[in-house]
Amino acid sequence: MTHDRARTSDVSRRQFIKASAGLAVVASAAPLIARTANVRGMDTVKVGLIGCGGRGTGAAAQAMHADAGAVLWAMADIFPGRIDDKLGNLAQISEQMILDEHHAARSDKIQVSDDRKFLGFDAYQQLIDSGVDVVLLATPPVFRPTHLRAAVLANKHIFCEKPVAVDAPGIRSVLETSAMAEARGLSLMSGFCWRYHSQMREGFGRLLDGGIGDVHTVQSTYNVAGWVETHERQPGWSDLEFQLRNWQYFTPLSGDHIVEQGIHAVDWIAWANRDVPPLRCTAIGGRSVRPDVPETGNVYDHFSVMYEYENGARGYHMCRHWPTKSGDNTAYMLGSDGTYTMRPWSEQHIMTGSNPWKGSATKNNMYQQEHDELFAAIKSGDRVDDGVLMAHSTLMAIMGRMAAYTGETITWEQALKSQENLSPDGWEWGPRPFPEVARPGKTRFF
Ligand SMILES: NC(=O)c1ccc[n+]([C@@H]2O[C@H](COP(=O)([O-])OP(=O)(O)OC[C@H]3O[C@@H](n4cnc5c(N)ncnc54)[C@H](O)[C@@H]3O)[C@@H](O)[C@H]2O)c1
Repeated sequence: MTHDRARTSDVSRRQFIKASAGLAVVASAAPLIARTANVRGMDTVKVGLIGCGGRGTGAAAQAMHADAGAVLWAMADIFPGRIDDKLGNLAQISEQMILDEHHAARSDKIQVSDDRKFLGFDAYQQLIDSGVDVVLLATPPVFRPTHLRAAVLANKHIFCEKPVAVDAPGIRSVLETSAMAEARGLSLMSGFCWRYHSQMREGFGRLLDGGIGDVHTVQSTYNVAGWVETHERQPGWSDLEFQLRNWQYFTPLSGDHIVEQGIHAVDWIAWANRDVPPLRCTAIGGRSVRPDVPETGNVYDHFSVMYEYENGARGYHMCRHWPTKSGDNTAYMLGSDGTYTMRPWSEQHIMTGSNPWKGSATKNNMYQQEHDELFAAIKSGDRVDDGVLMAHSTLMAIMGRMAAYTGETITWEQALKSQENLSPDGWEWGPRPFPEVARPGKTRFF
């Protein structure tokens, strides 16, 4: 298995050449005149990127490639240097796009002038106000509910990376914002990329059509040996800068790794259960092998969660960051008439039972597919809406973390109503408490 972060950061020329054939169909099939409010009658669609890291850069390249009229218009980040650095990468990628026959008409894919490079904690708002039509939200997840709300209030179409929040107040905000997006006719595409993977769509489509009868058990894993690079504290860094440079390792910023990464495999459990929320969950977890240095923050290194559904079905998710060779990112589903074994990285989709089946769909680039569908939706006016799905799948991962941290069985209702607020009232560089490692029995649910 390849680590998803490593892969998505690598927005190489080769990827885009490979992806371009599929793109052509979507781009040319989309009507030229947009029906939604803020792109009506415009061939050019201005894209703004908020959070110029590995995933954001990939998303910006995919957005530019998704539609002949899409141009990168503005960029926002909090750390100086990130924007120009990533702009350099994107310029190389866009050169390749221009050579691509479908984008030959457009030699100005990147239009990020200096006055549209925004820096700081309010950079997102400045970008939203800079005349963009579509925003790509790719900061650490703690900021997502605020950025999403601001984008919808300004009538922007949105690509919103997962996870969409780190706590229940964030989820409640995202659910409210999604309803506002619907009322305003805005497209809202999530970063739950497996939902846009051709082979997964084929397999899950068959599963939900009864391919193995009634699904009663889903087991999914996201077990990896390593995670992202850590950054030792440098002279002059405030507490907040130190934590934001290591955001994945701090629960208040990332939600912990079950929420930031394992969430993809938690989402498979949701998908197999037709996105009906589970009744409750019980979990274990801990921090057994992470080096005990400040830059690894307070997050756990393993979780195991059991989700229970009203119809008696159960979902079991395990994720871990242990330095061993037994990595695994698969799902195994049991139904009343067979099994479905899904190993997406090795393209294996196998069902047993009275209708044995093997997946045969050609693999697509799921990241590109998301943007192809988002831009086709914007141009056609048939909005795409991942709002409730992305909020519910994120809450499933958050409730797993809550159950593991506290040792309590947590119901869906409790998780949704939780008052635990991990965000400070405002954001400014300076002191910030170092979060404690959670201890079941001592750490309370509230
Ligand atoms: N769908 C996937 O497969 C996938 C893969 C990787 C990452 N992701 C998600 O994408 C998001 C970003 O991850 P990444 O790997 O690109 O992280 P990253 O650290 O590489 O990039 C995050 C960027 O956001 C910037 N940033 C931080 N706070 C900000 C703020 N308040 N306003 C503006 N910019 C801010 C950082 O400086 C950094 O440049 C995360 O939510 C992550 O879970 C999804």
